[in-house]
Amino acid sequence: MAEHASSVLIRGGRIIDPSQNKDFIGDLWLEDGKIAALERSGKIPSARAKTVYDAKGCWVLPGLIDLHVHLREPGLEYKETIETGTRAATAGGFTSVACMANTMPVNDSPSITAFIREKARTSAACRVFPVGAVSKGLKGEELAEIGGMVAEGAKAISDDGMPVMNSYLMRKAMDYSKAFGVPIISHAEDSNLVGQGVMNESALSAELGLRGNPAAAEEILVAREIALCRLTQAPVHIAHVSTAVALEHIRRAKDAGLPVTAEASPHHLILTEETVRDYHTNFKMAPPLRSEKDVRALREAVAEGLVEIIATDHAPHGVTDKSVEFDQAANGIIGLQTAVPLTLRLVHDHVVSLKRWIEALTIAPARLLNLPYGTLRKGRDADVTIINPSENWIWDESCVLSKSRNSPFLGWKMKGQIKATFVSGRPVFLQGLKITRLGDN
Ligand code: DOR
Ligand code: ZN
Repeated sequence: MAEHASSVLIRGGRIIDPSQNKDFIGDLWLEDGKIAALERSGKIPSARAKTVYDAKGCWVLPGLIDLHVHLREPGLEYKETIETGTRAATAGGFTSVACMANTMPVNDSPSITAFIREKARTSAACRVFPVGAVSKGLKGEELAEIGGMVAEGAKAISDDGMPVMNSYLMRKAMDYSKAFGVPIISHAEDSNLVGQGVMNESALSAELGLRGNPAAAEEILVAREIALCRLTQAPVHIAHVSTAVALEHIRRAKDAGLPVTAEASPHHLILTEETVRDYHTNFKMAPPLRSEKDVRALREAVAEGLVEIIATDHAPHGVTDKSVEFDQAANGIIGLQTAVPLTLRLVHDHVVSLKRWIEALTIAPARLLNLPYGTLRKGRDADVTIINPSENWIWDESCVLSKSRNSPFLGWKMKGQIKATFVSGRPVFLQGLKITRLGDN
């Protein structure tokens, strides 16, 4: 974090903050790392600020929050580190990320949670919130030390990557997470039914000769999580929901007043199973890419707020994990630097409203994790993201800040460029904004 938080004026942008129902052209003043004022243009004298950022033509938003990333540290640093992953995050407009527990060792104890927090303190470019494991070693046998991890700063509990197949254990985890006031995040796939499946089970999987992973695997575990939520009343969050039927389960649960939430990943909103045709392993992920009907249902669910959160599931993997046969390849893709332009397509195409899109990346994840961010409310920490929504650019290897390059979108034309990212009033990412420095006043 290069510069110190001082007095900053972000001038002439379109300030949009769904948490306060604000959307107007104006100036945002940051002082000592906090939001000091939001005013219509010209009301805040620029002489008050040390640095003025010209945000004309840009959107000025609360710093984006990604509650589902894999930073791979400790233990898998050849794929990603907290440092490289958070640099990719800030370039993607994110000021806070929550990192999943499937590291080596697994984040299943207070000492690992404390290690991640300490590593983040010394090397991260943005805020990092650890997610603690449900079970020791993600083995699904014995509960992890949930209370201790929450005491060390874990903001949610999840065995993401490894579905929890033991319903009794999941019920216990929900009892604890409710007691400690954090949500359970479920990677909802019945792993017995997934079996050796490597893509969505369909006519296409038969045609391609790849083993199928049926939508039913997700539907079954989503239905179970809802049943356990009804039993425990614990807040349950469904990660990367991908099927139309799972969405209907979630709708019924919400109609019944259960504390269930869900997230969609950019790749499930943008790509269908058809992309697997050329057997490129960057189209392999868990859950798999689905049918066009599923993608349409997922887009509608984000549009109406049934799925309230967009989260990347940023999953870096090295060449040795991905440059192998489709059957053998690791699941997952990097996503932090492409989430904004990819999902912004839905706004440009009038599928999702601008307000809903911003909510899904700011206040909705902040609420789920009980974070005081995702808002431009006066007095709050000045986490701010500036986006030029109409700037075109090409996502190629030279742009990649992550340690891994496993993106299926390399070579794609993107519309929507991050121009600046501020954490506590400090610029942690800058790209081509006009800046005026006014000296020490
Ligand atoms: O595609 C995925 N990759 N899905 C997951 O749930 C885990 C992730 C990973 O850790 O690589
Ligand atoms: Zn997952």
